[in-house]
Amino acid sequence: MAKEFKRYLVTSALPYANGPVHIGHLAGVYIPSDIYTRYLRRRGRDVLSICGSDEHGVAITIKARKEGVSPKEIIDRYHNLIKRSFERLGMSFDIYSRTSSPVHAQTASDFFRKLYAEGKFIEKTSEQYYDEEAQQFLADRYIVGTCPHCQNEKAYGDQCEKCGSTLSPDELIAPHSALSGSPLVKRETKHWYLPLDKYEGFLREWILEGHKEWRPNVYGQCKSWLDLGLQPRAVSRDLDWGIPVPVEGAEGKVLYVWFDAPIGYISATKELTPDWERYWKDSGTKMVHFIGKDNIVFHCIVFPSMLKAHGEYILPENVPANEFLNLEGDKISTSRNWAVWLHEYLDEFPGKEDVLRYVLCANAPESKDNDFTWKDFQARNNNELVAVLGNFVNRALVLTQKYYGGEVPACGSLTDYDRGTLAELQAVKATLEQNIENYRFREALKEAMNVARIGNKYLADCEPWKLVKTDPERVKTILNIALQITANLSIVVEPFMPFTAAKLLAMLRLEPLDWERIGATDLVAAGHRIGTPELLFEKIEDDVIQAQL
Ligand code: MF3
Ligand code: ZN
Repeated sequence: MAKEFKRYLVTSALPYANGPVHIGHLAGVYIPSDIYTRYLRRRGRDVLSICGSDEHGVAITIKARKEGVSPKEIIDRYHNLIKRSFERLGMSFDIYSRTSSPVHAQTASDFFRKLYAEGKFIEKTSEQYYDEEAQQFLADRYIVGTCPHCQNEKAYGDQCEKCGSTLSPDELIAPHSALSGSPLVKRETKHWYLPLDKYEGFLREWILEGHKEWRPNVYGQCKSWLDLGLQPRAVSRDLDWGIPVPVEGAEGKVLYVWFDAPIGYISATKELTPDWERYWKDSGTKMVHFIGKDNIVFHCIVFPSMLKAHGEYILPENVPANEFLNLEGDKISTSRNWAVWLHEYLDEFPGKEDVLRYVLCANAPESKDNDFTWKDFQARNNNELVAVLGNFVNRALVLTQKYYGGEVPACGSLTDYDRGTLAELQAVKATLEQNIENYRFREALKEAMNVARIGNKYLADCEPWKLVKTDPERVKTILNIALQITANLSIVVEPFMPFTAAKLLAMLRLEPLDWERIGATDLVAAGHRIGTPELLFEKIEDDVIQAQL
């Protein structure tokens, strides 16, 4: 029996504020999380959706250095850009915060101090790479070398972005400094480690026994991590950018970004509501982390171990990580500027927010890497949004205007064919719910679009434009049903395409309808006057696509 939850806490991976967000981020994390939260809200569930910028770590300082500006300037610029772009795309976070906020510094410091005071860390002095010219330790991305697993020559001291493996600087072949050409030396330095090996038993039990329902890619990654055996992981770094390690004798040291960032979910909830503890400390909460696959180990192994060590917090119920989205057959790459940037898309395709949301969901890399191509973008817009959804709605509304001056006609007696159509409509709700609740958003979207297909087929088969001369009474019933289907669409597309849902409601002149009413055939009353029909989508021509290519 599935457990019933009283409330939901949905988190979306905090994007690094070192660059804009691109379609890979959207398809992997943000579109699915927004669909899920919008759905839960529509069902009247108690849900909070949490996100914000990840503003610490070497990702930020490297970018600042490259541009010759301060890290603060970088995070302010990209935090604002990302936040604004998300709003424009219709992302419905309850809060979009940032890890440079004072509440976060306090929360992360308190978290560290509690674990420290309870002896949950190991303190260890070791030799680490030091750059004498730059006069600093080379944490994470400051050290570059060849990946021992895939021979990528640009692997970082903490991770190889090509094959995704997690590394330590000592595993790199021919390591060198990203800061200067000076040869590497080693120096002693003290750090605090979370002994993950001590949490192995707990993790095995919790994930491998308790969460067999997790996606195979997520479960599989966790299993292979656990089978390889976990090591203590440093939670501090020698850096001057980040949250200072809040204990004596830690001058010049900050919390490792992967220690502070996930705590950002907690801080943001705190900033959002005085009631935050109910969401974080009550086992009636279902917490779901939306992330990309490169974040699995941090959200399934490291952060849960931190939460467990802390002792007061709940653990995630699911971590539906997506695979990667490629662009035109090639890996998306910020450094090669091979990406579709959200803010640029929004500028170049005004009014087409839902088209992007639609295509990225229809093509989401849920179980394997997937490809975004402009041709596919055009085809899905023209053949699905315009030809199916837009076309159906337009016909239903325009015919209602034309025949009845916009007044909804009454439904007469139903034929067997009508009943068959309505039965199909009624079957949508359960399928849609099952798919969304199980994080199968591509399938869910197909089911939502199925409502438009049902409507399109119904009108095509009934041909009211022919019947209107011979059997006007019958046409009233047909259009009444077509309008009920249109009203149903305004409910089912909302999680995926909120702008379209709003337009549908405006054209029908209806208030938002309850999720529970999906399948109902009395959503628009006879005699109700609808508004002026407008096209929901427009065809995208070849020259527009050529320009993008
Ligand atoms: N900034 C990280 C990334 O883009 C994600 C951080 S998620 C958090 O990969 F949980 F740490 F916040
Ligand atoms: Zn590699």
